[in-house]
Amino acid sequence: MTSAKLYQAHLAALGDMLEDALSRAAARGLPLDGVLFHAGREDYYHADDQPVPFRSTPHFLRWAPLAGPEHCVLARPGRRPLVIRVAPRDFWYEVTPLADSYWQPSVEVVEVCRLADAREHLQGAGKLAYVGNSAAAAEELGIPETMVEPEALMAPLAWHRGIKTDHEVAQIVRAAEKAAEGHRVARKAFESGASEKEIHWAFLEAAGQLEAELPFATITALDEKIAILHYQNKRGLESAPGKVFMLDAGASHEGYASDITRTWALETADDLYRALLDAMDALQRDLVAMVTPGRPYPEIHLEAHRRTALLLAETGLVRCSAEQALEQGITRTFLPHGVGHHLGLQVHDVGGHQAGPDGGTAPPPSDHPFLRNTRTLEPGHVVTIEPGIYFCDVLLDELRSRPEGSEVEWKLVERLAPCGGVRIEDDVLCTPEGARDLTRPLIQGPRGL
Ligand code: GLY
Ligand code: MN
Ligand code: MN
Repeated sequence: MTSAKLYQAHLAALGDMLEDALSRAAARGLPLDGVLFHAGREDYYHADDQPVPFRSTPHFLRWAPLAGPEHCVLARPGRRPLVIRVAPRDFWYEVTPLADSYWQPSVEVVEVCRLADAREHLQGAGKLAYVGNSAAAAEELGIPETMVEPEALMAPLAWHRGIKTDHEVAQIVRAAEKAAEGHRVARKAFESGASEKEIHWAFLEAAGQLEAELPFATITALDEKIAILHYQNKRGLESAPGKVFMLDAGASHEGYASDITRTWALETADDLYRALLDAMDALQRDLVAMVTPGRPYPEIHLEAHRRTALLLAETGLVRCSAEQALEQGITRTFLPHGVGHHLGLQVHDVGGHQAGPDGGTAPPPSDHPFLRNTRTLEPGHVVTIEPGIYFCDVLLDELRSRPEGSEVEWKLVERLAPCGGVRIEDDVLCTPEGARDLTRPLIQGPRGL
């Protein structure tokens, strides 16, 4: 299908989702004729005239992949979406021209110089809610504060974002293609002895992304820094050459994110670590296969812990049985984060803890507080599967101080600590037939699969 056809079908699906959201809002005492999605207003650093890098409201981007602040989409059931492009007459900044694109034939587009001028296009549109980051902007549009992101509307809108249309899956795949190219070149940089900074720059260049376009800051870690889950620094030459390298990095395409992690080791790295890396790759693929409709996502998380317990016992990192390692919570020291999350217009996409379309919270199990997704998988969900194993000082010190710490083979932990850990992460679509790994066809794992 062409991009234009996919987009048309996407808009039809969004129309159905909008109708459902509006009828749910009406049932909760909030009758609405439509929704005004605002790309959002630029923000500035404190006491400064420099803008914070701008990100469009994801709900807006879902309707119109139009970059930049202030644009709007007026969405009403049964009507073509009206895209209101705000194009100021500006001599300081370029007003990016509106190039012909696949999505435009499916919508109406009008152009105004200022947001307030959009108001005339809302005449007769009825009662609207505003979705965006600025109550002041809503006021300029004549929408009262009580209609700014009302919960009765936002809950179903967030819930429906969990189901990706074919157009959205194609966008995520485009984002994954860019990231995969970045990962390939970054791996070569690592193998040629580059520093964390140099590897990060190699990723950006190969992915064709500016720093501000990334869906999240890359986690570019050599050796022991891999143990820091969201390691935010990039060291210079003092970090090079590394023996082990982990890159957790995605790219964006028209607002859609990819989120991919690969870990690589040189042949000179510790043999036990290399075995762990291969085992984690096999484990990760088994978890990917669990992305099937009807499965509560937390089952995958708990399976990751069962398999981590086996790995700890097999490698001799614990002296107790796998069952005991699991029961005593030892696996949580080595795998402290959730096994993954929804992925879409945000890297940690909305609605992961939502109980249902009308809202409410489905919290993660109390001893797994960092699990970001508690929903039951449905066709159209795109999630990450990202198990890992880490040798993290803070967590190891805590385990050492507990009675269960005596079950750990600390000599082995100390041997492996300079390698930091392993994380492997793919983006996975739940289809009616089961898992479709969107990442592996683009970039292999450590075992070459
Ligand atoms: N890059 C953060 C994550 O994998 O969730
Ligand atoms: Mn992730
Ligand atoms: Mn990631």
